Amino acid sequence: MSHYDVAYVRSQFPALKRTIGGRPAAYLDGPGGTQTPQRVLDAVLAYLVDHNANYGGRFATSEETDATIARAHEAGADFLGCEPAEVSFGANMTTLTYFLAEALGRRLSPGDEVVVTALDHEANRSPWLQLAERGAVVREVPVDLATCTLDWTAFEALVRPGRTKVIALGYASNAVGTVNDVARAAQLARAAGAWSVVDAVHYALHGPIDVRAVGCDFLLCSAYKFFGPHVGLLYARREATAQVEPLHLATQYSEPPYVWETGTLNFEGLAGTTAAIDFIADLGERHVAMVEDRLPAGLKGRRRAIVAGMLAGEAYEQPLATRLREQLAGIPGVTLYGPPEGSPRTSTVSFTLDGVLAGEAARTLGERGLFVWDGDFYAARLVELLGLTERGGLIRVGLAPYTTQDELDRLVTAVGDLEGSRR
Ligand SMILES: Cc1ncc(COP(=O)(O)O)c(C=O)c1O
Repeated sequence: MSHYDVAYVRSQFPALKRTIGGRPAAYLDGPGGTQTPQRVLDAVLAYLVDHNANYGGRFATSEETDATIARAHEAGADFLGCEPAEVSFGANMTTLTYFLAEALGRRLSPGDEVVVTALDHEANRSPWLQLAERGAVVREVPVDLATCTLDWTAFEALVRPGRTKVIALGYASNAVGTVNDVARAAQLARAAGAWSVVDAVHYALHGPIDVRAVGCDFLLCSAYKFFGPHVGLLYARREATAQVEPLHLATQYSEPPYVWETGTLNFEGLAGTTAAIDFIADLGERHVAMVEDRLPAGLKGRRRAIVAGMLAGEAYEQPLATRLREQLAGIPGVTLYGPPEGSPRTSTVSFTLDGVLAGEAARTLGERGLFVWDGDFYAARLVELLGLTERGGLIRVGLAPYTTQDELDRLVTAVGDLEGSRR
């Protein structure tokens, strides 16, 4: 298909039939969590009905559970561009990061340095900030507040070979959509002899991830942000796992990828995660003609289809987001936040409206069936630096592959009405 078939995409999501006060619900809350396609629902249900057992047993449902786990590792590897043994699962990104910080923290000596950024979600700051209690020195990469982008000159100056041991940064900002040059950060880390940790939770819905091209040691994301259930994914480069020697509880296997996994996993969630990745691959197969010229050479099978699916979704969403920003900019009192037009950014659009608290705006929009988030979305440091904490933070509109122009037109009209009512 040479154009994006949004009607087909929408038909896959039962939730999109929901109405609020007679109006269709517009799920513009994707950065908080996406909706779930039918095939993911089917996979979760089928696991619980037909295959539910603990793993490692000598009977049918347990063997089927082992196969469910193996398929999820393979799907995760195709999603991230690595080996199945480099993908581990957990409750969510935050829990996996906390565990990772604990493991890396044990290998630090007092005075070793850890670099975080002012742009990041607290899930990729707090676990590293806590290492200060063990004597680590935490350094923060500042943000250029006019563009909501990292200050790379300061970043480079902060990283000190031999002293810096961890660099933790986001692939994309869940608050304002800035996409960071994570390959450059990973390169800085390698040159300094530090581990690089990339939070790809927001980015994972918006672009293909190739951990080898990024060159990082660890990368984390969450399936519920890309159509799946509540499951966290950790990519741990094989050599990095061998170096780190993760914490090893008696209930854990000592081999990767299980060495990063604690206790019994959410097997129905793993079945759903595989189905979510297959859903993206299906989108790719349907839309490959749209993105063929942008597909890297040498990709095969499901990996190729996944990359095509991600590129197609973004090719559809980016012009919608650009138009949305233009329309919002035309409303008096609206201030948009994020990188300049043309810079790498996701289709997440954040703004404030003079004289209206973000929470009030989100509530009014929600009553009209327009589901947007307000606040700091745990990117609290950025919102504080922007001076928006007292005003209730930002209003965030998240586009997803199922978003339509009609929904965004409704949103623009409703924001215009809000602006009118404040005068
Ligand atoms: C950028 C970013 N990082 C991390 C997280 C935390 O992810 P999880 O809910 O899987 O712990 C979120 C959740 O909103 C996020 O947007």
